Amino acid sequence: MTDINPLDVPETDPFDVARTAAREIAEATGIARHDIALTLGSGWGRAADLIGETTHTLDAEEITGFSAPALAGHAGKLRSVLLPGGKRALLIGARTHYYEGHGVRRVVHSVRTAAATGATTMILTNGAGGIRETWTPGTPVLISDHINLTADSPLEGATFVDLTDLYSRRLRDLARTIDPTLDEGVYCQFRGPHYETPAEVQMARVIGGHIVGMSTALEAIAARQAGMEVLGLSLITNLAAGIQTEPLSHAEVLDAGKSAEPVISALLARIVAAL
Ligand code: HPA
Repeated sequence: MTDINPLDVPETDPFDVARTAAREIAEATGIARHDIALTLGSGWGRAADLIGETTHTLDAEEITGFSAPALAGHAGKLRSVLLPGGKRALLIGARTHYYEGHGVRRVVHSVRTAAATGATTMILTNGAGGIRETWTPGTPVLISDHINLTADSPLEGATFVDLTDLYSRRLRDLARTIDPTLDEGVYCQFRGPHYETPAEVQMARVIGGHIVGMSTALEAIAARQAGMEVLGLSLITNLAAGIQTEPLSHAEVLDAGKSAEPVISALLARIVAAL
């Protein structure tokens, strides 16, 4: 049997696929409705253990529409977490990046599935490069807005969605009640998987960007289309190319994520508790 992902069939409605996935999650967990969803990017994974009690862990691959992980042996997991206040969170540890080349439907499937489970708040986190010199590696930054440089969109056809206040001011203000030192900036999504050139980073700066990365903007658009309130958080894992003089390495990015993880995960858990 060939395993065709239904999202790759153009005639398929991606929202039907998301509804099927949500039904499967409800069946596997016994939880009919989730309230909040979080996508945990580089450096944010430990938050999974801090925000509440994990009652169910699923292999994302077993759920309709989700892709096999890009790195073998790193199976993407979905967790259902009971928050201290009684709400339910769906934790998405299974991000499909645009640079994997599977198309934007697969990139945003987790967000659409989260919406179909009932979630009305979407927290998107990532590891990213910083353009502001003052953001040393390990600094968490709120995303205030984005510039989508992928030249793609999760919206199909003449679907006009307002993106004013895409990254909810209310949620940013709430995050700052937990940590008043949280800075914010505009996230530029590049296609990747190569890091940017110094000239591209300068371009991003000139057009109003402060953070460079390879995820999140497309996901945030899909979340807004689904009517969710979005909070975006970047962990600055490195200064962007040319802002730092040394070459960028994936190992450096992972290391910065690891060292910052306890602090930013605790911060994220406190933000979630305040929602
Ligand atoms: N650029 C793009 N994506 C990234 C970076 C970067 O500098 N660091 C971590 N993810």
